[in-house]
Amino acid sequence: MNHTALETVGLTRSFGGLIAVNNIHLNVEAGSVFGFLGPNGAGKTTTIRIVLGLIKPDRGRVMLFGQDLSSHRLSILGRVGALVETPSLYNHLTGFENLEVTRRLLGCPKENIENALEIVKLTEAAHRLVREYSLGMRQRLGLALALLNRPEILILDEPTNGLDPAGIREMRALIKQLPAQFGITVFLSSHLLSEVEQLASHVGIIHQGTLLFQGSLNELHAHQHERLVLEVDRPAVAMELLTQQGWHVQREENNRLTVSSQGRKDAAFINSLLVREGLKVFHLSRQQPSLEETFFQLTGEPTAGDPT
Ligand SMILES: Nc1ncnc2c1ncn2[C@@H]1O[C@H](COP(=O)(O)OP(=O)(O)OP(=O)(O)O)[C@@H](O)[C@H]1O
Ligand SMILES: [Mg+2]
Repeated sequence: MNHTALETVGLTRSFGGLIAVNNIHLNVEAGSVFGFLGPNGAGKTTTIRIVLGLIKPDRGRVMLFGQDLSSHRLSILGRVGALVETPSLYNHLTGFENLEVTRRLLGCPKENIENALEIVKLTEAAHRLVREYSLGMRQRLGLALALLNRPEILILDEPTNGLDPAGIREMRALIKQLPAQFGITVFLSSHLLSEVEQLASHVGIIHQGTLLFQGSLNELHAHQHERLVLEVDRPAVAMELLTQQGWHVQREENNRLTVSSQGRKDAAFINSLLVREGLKVFHLSRQQPSLEETFFQLTGEPTAGDPT
């Protein structure tokens, strides 16, 4: 059985009159990449800051590795790595020196630096000044800092934000390998559906502080209702006929109709119904809506386009 790396129970946090995080129950399985997806202002960073013990919830609790954060804070946070927005780096030091500063604070062995540099592919650039690093390299150094204590779970807030397409691709490839190669569970936030789709095994969708969906990507796909696309000679007649029979029908461009349906039986039934009534069916196909549409159905908001 899979065990839970991170669990939140009823997390709630307001700022003034605004409920930023509303009764969030998250369940992140060990070994998964969990994509915490939501538009701007949804409550992602607030949730992450609560999970990292940076701010307190009004209600609810955070469990990491089966222990309550409020009572085992230090021992738990020693097993967590985090990168929240852009990392704070010393520009006048080299990448290696930046890691060394943090390593001493954490008291972890020297070899962790080489390992972290290797994972984020900065071994060669390690002795250059951070001032000369590209944005992508800076972000990877931030990831190396988060990996320094060999965490069991890595918590990343919008790790690809602000990077160019090449930087985004690099960062995603690095993150994706972490569970299989190093046994690290990853919890990352993003406002990009396509990013979560590419990176994550599991997804939580947050909107206006509320968790609207949580499960594997496969479960999200299963959540989607199939529909039937029809082209007939008399769409208005077909529409009336189908609506009378209780089907949910929509008129699309090019005289096409879409019908909410489920599977082969529905398709065959609708086809024979239309033919029996003397309509000509030119086209009939079953379509899965895109995740984009499912997201829109859940949140009523379109997702941002992927810059890559
Ligand atoms: N310190 C604060 N004081 C007041 N309001 C806050 C504070 N932090 C967050 N909020 C509000 O809480 C809501 C959730 O913000 P949060 O930063 O968690 O969203 P987010 O999902 O991380 O958004 P983004 O994608 O823009 O980073 C927003 O309406 C925000 O304005
Ligand atoms: Mg945020």
